Amino acid sequence: MKIDVYYTPLGLNAGDLTGRAVVVIDVLRATSTIVSALAAGAKAIVPAASSDEVVRLTANLEKNGIVLAGERRLQKIEGFSLGNSPREMTPDQVSGKTVYLSTTNGTPALVAAQGADPVLVGAAVNFGAVGERAAALLRERGDLVIICAGREKQIALEDAYTAGRIVRTARKGLRKVVLNDSADVALGLAQRYSSWVDAFTASDAGRALQALGMEQDVQFCAGVDKYDLVPTYSDRLIT
Ligand code: MLT
Repeated sequence: MKIDVYYTPLGLNAGDLTGRAVVVIDVLRATSTIVSALAAGAKAIVPAASSDEVVRLTANLEKNGIVLAGERRLQKIEGFSLGNSPREMTPDQVSGKTVYLSTTNGTPALVAAQGADPVLVGAAVNFGAVGERAAALLRERGDLVIICAGREKQIALEDAYTAGRIVRTARKGLRKVVLNDSADVALGLAQRYSSWVDAFTASDAGRALQALGMEQDVQFCAGVDKYDLVPTYSDRLIT
């Protein structure tokens, strides 16, 4: 059995993921936002590689049934109704609607994971549920891939920490699971911080959000097991 972690999707080659089970993580904040939107009753999320792509995809759609959301430099995109904060994903805003979402690193990482089966959306807010699915998939398939969105083409501490927590949960009780180097290092990070909030606030992304007055988003995203759902990305839709 083996677990491979990627700290950014940049190292992926065509075909690397075909037929493999993948968990995508961008805990600050895209995957936390997606889980929260579905928990608030959104019909589906369409992750887009860019804001232009959101505009193109929605140009001819009836505006009642959709919500445009996303960030650029952590701030809401002009002309979109919502930013990328999980706290904005309230039933009032998203219930029954399809959310078209574009973020700097998170949604491109999801788009890059297409071709895998299944593609699961992981965060702290659904950690228990996603950990359980990851453990089951590792036992069924003998193989699990965790893709972190990363930040500025580099490792993002909060994603790597979350990956380490998933590695730890997935391999629990198993004798021999081969880890790639990134999975091994992520496992070390999972031991290093005493809580989710410690890891998230210590990260570059956590500090950047706090500097912009978005401390509450960091706390929210570090709120483990708020939701018991594991979104799946298939045919361009996350449900
Ligand atoms: C990203 O995609 O880079 C993040 O989700 C940014 C954010 O926190 O808004």
